[in-house]
Parts: sequence; C-alpha cells; structure tokens
Amino acid sequence: MKRPVIIIDFGGQHSRVIARKIRELKIWSVILPGSSTLDKIEAHNPQALVLVDGPGRGELPLGLLDKGWPVLGIGRDMHKVGKVMNPELINTQQGEMQLKDFLQRTCGIQSNWSMADYIEDTVATVRQQIGEERVICGLSGGVDSAVAATLVHRAVGDQLTCFFVDHGLLRKGEVEEVMTAFSGRGIKIMQIDARQRFLSRLQGVTEPEAKRKIIGDQFIREFETAARELGDAKFLVQGTVYPDVIESGGVGVETIKSHHNVGGLPADLEFELCEPVRDLFKDEVREVGTRLGLPDEIVWRQPFPGPGLGIRVLGEITEERLAIVREADAIIRAEIAAAGLDREVWQYFATLPGVRSVGVTGDNRTYQELVAVRAVTSIDAMTADWARLPWEVLERISQRIVNEVDHVNRVVYDITSKPPGTIEWE
Ligand code: XMP
Repeated sequence: MKRPVIIIDFGGQHSRVIARKIRELKIWSVILPGSSTLDKIEAHNPQALVLVDGPGRGELPLGLLDKGWPVLGIGRDMHKVGKVMNPELINTQQGEMQLKDFLQRTCGIQSNWSMADYIEDTVATVRQQIGEERVICGLSGGVDSAVAATLVHRAVGDQLTCFFVDHGLLRKGEVEEVMTAFSGRGIKIMQIDARQRFLSRLQGVTEPEAKRKIIGDQFIREFETAARELGDAKFLVQGTVYPDVIESGGVGVETIKSHHNVGGLPADLEFELCEPVRDLFKDEVREVGTRLGLPDEIVWRQPFPGPGLGIRVLGEITEERLAIVREADAIIRAEIAAAGLDREVWQYFATLPGVRSVGVTGDNRTYQELVAVRAVTSIDAMTADWARLPWEVLERISQRIVNEVDHVNRVVYDITSKPPGTIEWE
C-alpha cells in the first residue's frame, strides 16, 4: 500500500490542484474532508498532511497535531499547524518549489507511485475482486468508461462484456465511432438500441434532476436486462473518476448535480461495482488510456455526460429538439477540430435553452429556436473558464448553424465561468 500525503479539505478552492501537483511529484495524495476523524486519517497511514484552509474550518480533530506527521498549512491563518504556504502561490513556480521542498526535503518523502505501477496494481486488484465471475460494462463513448473497460479487460479478458446503450441521446456518428473503435480490440461489445424506451420515459419530463435520475435508472435497467440474457454477471464496471467522487459530496461539498454514475444509482442495484479509475483525475485517466494503447480519438475525446444530449436539450426532450442539438453539436466539433483547438478546449458543445426569438430570412420574419454555444477550458471540470475562441471560429460556427440547422435563427456564446455557472446548463 502506498502511503499517501493526505490533503484535508476545509472547503477551499485549492485541494484538487494541490492533490494533482503532489501526484505529479510521483507522491500519492488523497483528499479527505475537513470533518474526517483522527481514526479515518490514521487508517490511511499518511506520510504528511496538507491542511487546506476554507470556510469549513472548525476545530482540528483532537490529537491530530500530536501524531508527529509533518504538516503544511495552506492559508494565511495556518501558522499554528506547522509550515505555512500562501494560497496565492499555488499556481506559481515559487509555490511548486515550496511544496516540493516541504515534501521531499522537510518530510523526506520519496516518490512512491508511477502510472505503470498504478496500472499493474489496478489490474491485480480487479482480477482479485472479480475472480471467476462475469462482469459487464456500459460504454458511454467517453474516455472514462473506455479506459475502465480496457483495464478490466486486461485483468479478466473475456469475462468482460461491454454494452453500448444507444439511449437516443448520443452525438452524431457516435454509435458507429465507438463500435468501430472497440471491435477489433478483442473486447466483447454489444450494441443495445434503447432509444424508444428512454425517450418514452422522458416524455413530458422537464426537471433536470428528474431527467438525470430517469436516464441513470434506465441505463441500469438496460444493463440488467442485457446481463440476464447473457447469464450471470455479478459486477458492473463504472468509469467513475476522482472529481465525480469529490463533487458528489465525498469530501463534504454539497451535491451540485447528481452525476448518474455516482449519486443516482437505484437502491436495488443488482451488481457489485468495479471502479478501476475512481482514484484518478481526468488527465491521469488519459495517460492510462494511452499507455493501454487506446487510440487518440478515444483518449482525447472531450468529456461527455452520461445523460448525453438529454441535459443539453433544456426542458422537454423531443426527437425534433434532439436533432437540432445534434446537428449544431456536430458543426461545433468540426469547426473546433478544424481550428486545431480540440485538445486545448476542455469541452465544446451546443445547448438548446428553449428560447425562441425573432429573426429575418430573405423577406420573411422568422420566430425560431436559439442555440447556445458553450466552450470551456478546465483541468478537471471542478472549475472552468469560458474559452476565448477566436472570433473567426465563432463566426463560422454561428454562420453554419443558422444556415445548416433547421429551426434555428440565432446563436449566442456562453461567457460564464464555473463557478458561478456549471459547465452543462442543466
Ligand atoms: P458541471 O455541469 O457540473 O459538469 O459543471 C462537470 C462535468 O461533469 C459532466 N457532467 C456529467 N457527467 N453525468 C455524467 O456522467 C452527469 O449527470 C453529468 N452532469 C455533468 C459535464 O459534462 C462536465 O464534464
């Protein structure tokens, strides 16, 4: 077991950045909530503590500072705990040097993990967890589930069957792309056409969390049905990543949106979960993907939410409105790729807010839908900044959408960062 540096998060903004910076030094790091008990912290057998100040700081767990673990406090108010670092330095070279100096020189911590070891350990753990049982995995087309499935395949080979559920909320060309990418890698994959079942359950539903719950629930039902047909799968692979765990309240942060791969699973779930990338940040998941030999088109796919276009058609989901978002999204993706920005921008997509506005085409007045373009830069989706796309790219996107997508006469660009916005509109 690698002994981590524990980051105790009192609800500030910085713990994830610190966690990633420590891991980049090849020292394993784990984030725990400020409310953790001494027992829980001790159970990790930490090598050092980093206390990240924030609004949630009450009393430190009794005895914490007597344990002899070296402590770095991040925040002006932290001198009582040990060494102190100014939070404003975190993203500077000076801050990185301070962190490195604290861990390596003051604490004498040596590098204790590498991605190659992580892969090997995870494959061994998965093999042990699954034993001789059958396991299924729902591929969403995104990098997380793809990497999770590939790790599990490496561990247990043909015991794994992947399902690709077409819930009717996928992007243009996605079914074909995913099926092509996976068949040929020796991974068993079955395509399930569940479009009608999803869309009929979603009929008339407008509330975002209700939509998510329905979609998450139907996903699981689809797996259960497919698994029953297959035989006796006991495990379900999920591409849960570390920020999902954190944002779902894992470290004392209020649940903002129930991400269906964590918070929205039904209570009567018939599977045990296997979550091989649960401890990793997105860029680390990508690195694993590359090391496992997944193609760039999969590894560098922009994150795509499990509920798919269902949370990008605001309000009621209909085939017609899905078609609008799908076409607009394809144009945005094509133009961002053509501009060579697809690795720089974290996510880029279309949203249909359900607003109609007046426009003019030739001599005719129109009264049609508005498409909102969203593009953000981010490192882990916990925070995000709106992408400063070149005007010419935005112009081409706008022109193409109004010219090529039926029922749309206006395009706007979302210039809200996260916080206070979120990346998705729902
Ligand atoms: P937000 O909108 O919360 O999104 O800033 C953060 C990241 O999570 C993705 N997202 C989801 N992923 N199920 C998912 O699997 C969901 O319900 C969901 N909602 C948002 C979003 O695309 C972004 O990458």
